[in-house]
Amino acid sequence: MRIAIIGTGYVGLVSGACFAEMGIEVACVDNDAAKIERLRRGVIPIYEPGLEDIVSRNAAAGRLHFHTSVAEGVDGAQVVFIAVGTPPDEDGGADLSHVLAAARQIGRAMTGPLVVAVKSTVPVGTSDKVRAAIEEAIAERDMEAPDFDIASNPEFLKEGNAVEDFMRPDRVVVGVDSEHARAVMDRLYKPFMVNSYRVIFTDTRSAEMIKYAANAMLATRISFMNDIAGLCELVGADVNMVRRGMGSDPRIGSKFLYPGIGYGGSCFPKDVRALIRTAGENDCRLEILEAVENINARQKEVLARKVERIFGSGLSGRVFAVWGLAFKPETDDVRESPALVTVRRLVAAGATVRVYDPVAMATARVELKETDASGGSGIRSGGVRWCETMYDALEGADALLLTTEWKQFRMPDWERVAAAMRGREIFDGRNVYDATEIRAKGFNYHGIGVK
Ligand SMILES: NC(=O)c1ccc[n+]([C@@H]2O[C@H](COP(=O)([O-])OP(=O)(O)OC[C@H]3O[C@@H](n4cnc5c(N)ncnc54)[C@H](O)[C@@H]3O)[C@@H](O)[C@H]2O)c1
Repeated sequence: MRIAIIGTGYVGLVSGACFAEMGIEVACVDNDAAKIERLRRGVIPIYEPGLEDIVSRNAAAGRLHFHTSVAEGVDGAQVVFIAVGTPPDEDGGADLSHVLAAARQIGRAMTGPLVVAVKSTVPVGTSDKVRAAIEEAIAERDMEAPDFDIASNPEFLKEGNAVEDFMRPDRVVVGVDSEHARAVMDRLYKPFMVNSYRVIFTDTRSAEMIKYAANAMLATRISFMNDIAGLCELVGADVNMVRRGMGSDPRIGSKFLYPGIGYGGSCFPKDVRALIRTAGENDCRLEILEAVENINARQKEVLARKVERIFGSGLSGRVFAVWGLAFKPETDDVRESPALVTVRRLVAAGATVRVYDPVAMATARVELKETDASGGSGIRSGGVRWCETMYDALEGADALLLTTEWKQFRMPDWERVAAAMRGREIFDGRNVYDATEIRAKGFNYHGIGVK
C-alpha cells in the first residue's frame, strides 16, 4: 500500500514514520523546502523520543520518502492524509487556510481514486469544505474526474510520547461517509491492532467533534483541579491528598487531575478556543469551557504571583532560577508554555531570570527574545540569562522556580542547590517535590495547593 501525508510537522512526520514502520510506503510532503532538505539528510526538525531511529530506519529501507511537491507525493497513493497546521485565527477559531490549500493541491494533482483523510484538528463540517475544495480543483482540470472519498481521522498522539502513542493507540477514530473509505482505512490501521481492534468508525462530523470534545474534557479536568488547588490553599487542605482520594473512584479516575501552572502547548489552548467559537457560530455558549479558559489564563500567572507575595511586586535586583521552558517534559515545544508566562512576568517586574531547559532552549530563545538581558551584563540588571546547566541557573538566585517537570529536575543534589543560591525559596509549579523533605533541608517550600 502507498500513502501520502501532506504536512510533515509533529503529526505528519510521526504518522508517516509509524505507517512506514508497518511496511506501508509513505511519501511525506511539506512546502517548507528547507525542512524537507534536512529530513532527506536525516536531520529531524523536532525533539521527540524514538522518532529519529524510526525515521532513519524507514528512510534507509526505502519506505519513507520526502517531497516538496504534492503531485509527486500523491502519485500512486491510495490514501492521502492532510496533516497541516490549523493555528488559531484572530477570533480564536481554527484557521483552515492550510487545510483547504492542501485540499486544492490534492485536487489538482490526483490521477486515480483516492481516500483523502483529514488528520489535522478541524472544526465540525470541515470535511465537507475539503470535499468542495477538491471538487473545485478537479473541475478546473481538463480531464475526467477521478473518484475520491473523504475520511476524518483526528490524531490523539501526545507530544513527548508520540511514537509510542501512534504505534499503540488507545483508539483510532475514523469518520467516513462511504463503505469504500471504511474498508481502506480499516486495512491501513489493521497492523496497529494486533491484540485488540480499537478502530472506532463514525460519520465525519462526529469524528471531528470527538477530537475537540476529548481535548476540551482533558483541559477541563486540569482547570478544575487548579481551581480546587487554589481553594485548598485557602482552607488548609492538601490537593495531593484530595487528588488521590478523588481519583481512586473509578468513575473519576486518577489521570489528568494534577494541579500545576496551567496547560499550554499547541493543542489544548487553541482547541478549547476553537470549540467555544464553533458554539458561538451556532448561537450557543459553552460556559464550562469559557471558565476553563479563564482559569487557565489565571493559573499561568500563579507562580509569579506567589513569588511577588514573598518578594514584593518590584523585583528589580532579584535573581530567579527557572527550571523548564517547554510546556511539558520530553518536548522542545514552548507554544503557549506557562513557563514563558512566568519568565515574562518576572522580567517585566525587573528581575533577572536565569533559565535552563534540557531541550527547549533554542525554541524558547525565539519566543523570549524581547526579554534578553541586552541592557547590561551585571548579574542583577534584569532580563533573561540562558544557562548551560540546571545548576548554573541557580548562581546567586533568590529563589528556584520549577516550571516543567523534566526527570532531571526531580531529584537534584539539594546541597549543591543550596550552595549555589543566595536565597532559600523553592516554588514548585508542578508539585514534584516533597514539601516535608525540602523544608527539612532548610528551604522554604511553595507548591500548588499543598501545605
Ligand atoms: N502536535 C500535536 O501534538 C498534535 C496532536 C494531535 C493533533 N494535532 C493537530 O494536527 C495538525 C498538525 O499539527 P502539527 O503540530 O503537526 O503542526 P506543525 O506546525 O508541526 O506542522 C504542520 C506542517 O505542515 C506544513 N504545511 C502547511 N501547509 C502546507 C501545504 N499546503 N503543503 C505542504 N505542507 C504544508 C508546514 O510547513 C508544517 O511543517 C494540527 O491541526 C494540530 O492541531 C497536533
